[in-house]
Amino acid sequence: MDLHKDIARILISEEEIRARVEGLAKEINDDYGDKPLVVVCILKGSVVFFADLVRRLTMPVRFDFMALSSYENARVSSGIVRVAMDLYETIEDKDVLIVEDIIDTGHTLSHLRELLYSRAPKSIRFCTLLDKPSRREANIHPDYCGFTIEDHFVVGYGLDIGGEHRQLPYVAIMK
Ligand code: PRP
Repeated sequence: MDLHKDIARILISEEEIRARVEGLAKEINDDYGDKPLVVVCILKGSVVFFADLVRRLTMPVRFDFMALSSYENARVSSGIVRVAMDLYETIEDKDVLIVEDIIDTGHTLSHLRELLYSRAPKSIRFCTLLDKPSRREANIHPDYCGFTIEDHFVVGYGLDIGGEHRQLPYVAIMK
């Protein structure tokens, strides 16, 4: 099967992603120093970015995972955020870094922020590979952002269309 046939053009290449992930990790390492950090992968879309990012972090890190979904195979957010799988560990009094693949309307992270702050963490910051500020409906700003993009429907490097194309090693615009 030719995975690339539905791609109109590559928006962000593998090399550009690699260089930016390195830059983001440096910012995070500089900010937290030796402080232990709980790094949370928001499934499913963030898994590729998370895996690349955490391998460049230098503080003591614990992984955790949470599955949230607001799109349910649609191209437009339903605005209703479903927690399909919660964290494994408590975050009380911990520094927490949430890793996302993309912030679009901001509803997902806005709901998540409210939910996680009720568990009394020491701090919560957001790191996203992609940000689409032109689509924002909720008051959310990432602390660390890989790339700000226009309002394109993108796939690859974890992002899907109908559950597929997540394994593409670059970020692309569909035909
Ligand atoms: C995507 C993405 C974010 C969210 C961003 O998840 O991973 O979690 O949408 O959109 P928003 O800012 O408009 O809320 P999706 O619901 O597609 O689930 P997935 O990660 O499993 O693909």
